[in-house]
Amino acid sequence: MSRAKRLIIANWKMHPGTLTDARKLFRGVSRKVTRIRKSTVVICPPTLYLSDLVSGYGGTTVSFGAQDCSTERTGGSFTGETSPLMLKRLGVQYAIVGHSERRARGETNELIAQKVKAAVTTGLTAVLCVGEEERDTEGTFLKWLEKEVQKSLEGVTRKDTGKLIVAYEPIWAIGKSAANAMTPEEVQHMYLFIRKVLVKKYGRKYGSKIKILYGGSIEPSNSTALLEEGGVDGFLVGHASLDSDDFAAIAK
Ligand code: PGA
Repeated sequence: MSRAKRLIIANWKMHPGTLTDARKLFRGVSRKVTRIRKSTVVICPPTLYLSDLVSGYGGTTVSFGAQDCSTERTGGSFTGETSPLMLKRLGVQYAIVGHSERRARGETNELIAQKVKAAVTTGLTAVLCVGEEERDTEGTFLKWLEKEVQKSLEGVTRKDTGKLIVAYEPIWAIGKSAANAMTPEEVQHMYLFIRKVLVKKYGRKYGSKIKILYGGSIEPSNSTALLEEGGVDGFLVGHASLDSDDFAAIAK
């Protein structure tokens, strides 16, 4: 596939603890990445901070994403939910969907597929997270992963794929250090595997264009090798995105 722009997405998760710190972190990141042309940088802060950050810093080189969105596109009696349309109207362009930390709290593939569909048909780019919890030597985890991808994309059509990104995040590699992340060879293997699954589902024309990211203990020390030798289209960065120097180094 064409190596257009790499995508570097920061997932701040439930950090930092105050809006003041969120502004400070955002300013630090955006200052350090303004001259980067080869990658698109997306920051996904907690929903609570999105409005303030978008109105204060929207229009800079950094784009915004949400960490989740509702299955309901517009609005209604859905306590605690945030609709894709609300996010879109605010100036948010991306939504992470189906992160393993949400799956661990009970989200199913079926629910996640509905969220992806709601996001993409509203004009948000959905970043669908997939990844196995553990591996076995016989490779049955690959079958499991294929099923997870297929089920999380049920009802998502070829036409929707222009707004779809898949982030491969093996759960066993999340929240550790670079030493515990995958090797570039392993990442490349999984990139090709997921590509095959997407091409099988959507055909070459569409399936080959969907960006595939890697996430799980990305740090400045392993990002270059994972990008160049792993062949992925970008990263979803967790803990290292909370340090503006580290995150800017990865984006560069
Ligand atoms: P990590 O998190 O970079 O801290 O491993 C990645 C993620 O959960 O998206």
